[in-house]
Amino acid sequence: MASTTTTTSGSLLLHRRCRSPAIQRRRLAVSCTAVAPPPAAAISSERVFNFAAGPANLPLKVLLKAQEELVDYRGSGMSIMEMSHRGKEFDGVIKKAESDLRSLLGISDDYSVLFLQGGATTQFSAVPLNLCSSPDDAADYIVTGSWSDKAYKEALKYCKAKQIWTGKPGKYTSIPPLDQIQQTEGAKFLHICANETIHGVEFKHYPVPAAQDTVLVADMSSNFCSKPVDVSKFGLIYAGAQKNVGPSGVTIVIVRRDLIDGGAQAITPVMLDLTVQAEAKSLYNTPPCLAIYICGLVFEDLIEQGGLGEVERKNAHKAGVLYEAIDGSGGYYVCPVEKGVRSAMNVPFTLARAELEKKFIEEAAGEGMVQLKGHRSVGGVRASIYNAMPLAGVQKLVAFMSDFQARHP
Ligand SMILES: Cc1ncc(COP(=O)(O)O)c(C=O)c1O
Repeated sequence: MASTTTTTSGSLLLHRRCRSPAIQRRRLAVSCTAVAPPPAAAISSERVFNFAAGPANLPLKVLLKAQEELVDYRGSGMSIMEMSHRGKEFDGVIKKAESDLRSLLGISDDYSVLFLQGGATTQFSAVPLNLCSSPDDAADYIVTGSWSDKAYKEALKYCKAKQIWTGKPGKYTSIPPLDQIQQTEGAKFLHICANETIHGVEFKHYPVPAAQDTVLVADMSSNFCSKPVDVSKFGLIYAGAQKNVGPSGVTIVIVRRDLIDGGAQAITPVMLDLTVQAEAKSLYNTPPCLAIYICGLVFEDLIEQGGLGEVERKNAHKAGVLYEAIDGSGGYYVCPVEKGVRSAMNVPFTLARAELEKKFIEEAAGEGMVQLKGHRSVGGVRASIYNAMPLAGVQKLVAFMSDFQARHP
């Protein structure tokens, strides 16, 4: 199989496969040399702490593994990007990714696990198209921020969507007591956004649908796999991968099988038809192979870390350090979100002296802490501290916050 040799300078890798007489005979005009990757420790010290909301940071371990396997995936002589999505190698990749995700979240056989395209935004349409068999069916939306608002507005095109609560008057800083929200009788589903990425509001408990035939649906894009979740309480969960579990390009949908029995509305585009996608095991058309492969590496890493219970413990600690720094700043930094529903993933805050925010963000970037600007719709600062953000990144940020405050009282 292909192997590598290193020159005395240690700078080149030469694939034996590329030196084979067969290939030489064909006089391929390709370079068979590549720069050897620097050691992990060197890369690690050069990497920034990336507080982006998504696409977001990935575990270095995963990136290095992907780099190692990029050119020649496990002896196949080609990269994941070049191989058939129906071949045995990719079949192994997608099956392993699914089975690892099932074990991480304890997903039973009653559910299909799909790796789709179009981002979470596509599911804003796919959910009502699949769960409401007619545009006259009712569906309830609890609107706790910009993302659930977008989901609700999209659903209005495909069903009788009803916003049964909105946090807009309070600038999306709270979630009401769930038992006080009046649900619509006969609604097909109750939709929530489990974690509002822009506003930093996270459900700590989930609402229970009022009727047995109503199912709970959650957009978990920004807290997917950040903690254990009892999947059996949901009819459908969807999540764009690019925050906690992979690169952009793949959206994970976990859906109870009895909800996708060919009942999608007739106008449903085939790519959004979850029955079709489930029957084709996510391979109705060419899937985002590389993105699915990276998700698989992330799932392996989460399992190695000890599973989602351990991941949740680490995330709670990181979030605690950051919120304590904000609350302990004597009002210099302010997080507007009610304490009980503050996100462990996205921490928005403002500076009492708003004119200093730009300087804060620029200086932080100068010290290797990037992408701290709040979403353009709300401004301020936002630190996204997903699974892959190490505690050291949060510690460096809070040390910087304290220093900045001392320098700009
Ligand atoms: C909670 C949430 N839902 C939906 C989306 C939209 O995701 P996508 O860009 O994958 O369509 C985002 C994107 O940031 C998000 O944070």
